[in-house]
Amino acid sequence: MNKIPVCSLGEISENETQVFDVDGKSVLVLQLGEKYFAVESICSHADVSLEDGDIDANDCTIECPKHGSLFSLENGEALTLPATKPLETWAVSTDGENVVIEV
Ligand code: FES
Repeated sequence: MNKIPVCSLGEISENETQVFDVDGKSVLVLQLGEKYFAVESICSHADVSLEDGDIDANDCTIECPKHGSLFSLENGEALTLPATKPLETWAVSTDGENVVIEV
């Protein structure tokens, strides 16, 4: 398991999505309260960025802005159609001033 720095803590704001290129993967990072999430930034239904998707902080979901599929931020599961495939997710932690993901 490698820990790869994604960004500094100062680069992300609570409840706002940010997308970073990490080793050729497009990773969407989000902070909700004390928790950080990292999921694939492209919807599994079509080639659409989830960066502008609506966030539900209570349910920990993101909604695809194109067709409205809901995805779990915790495990990437596609919770509503039309998407059926999960998003890739990564474990996130902080290391000093950096947000890191485990790959
Ligand atoms: S592109 Fe995301 S649900 Fe269709």
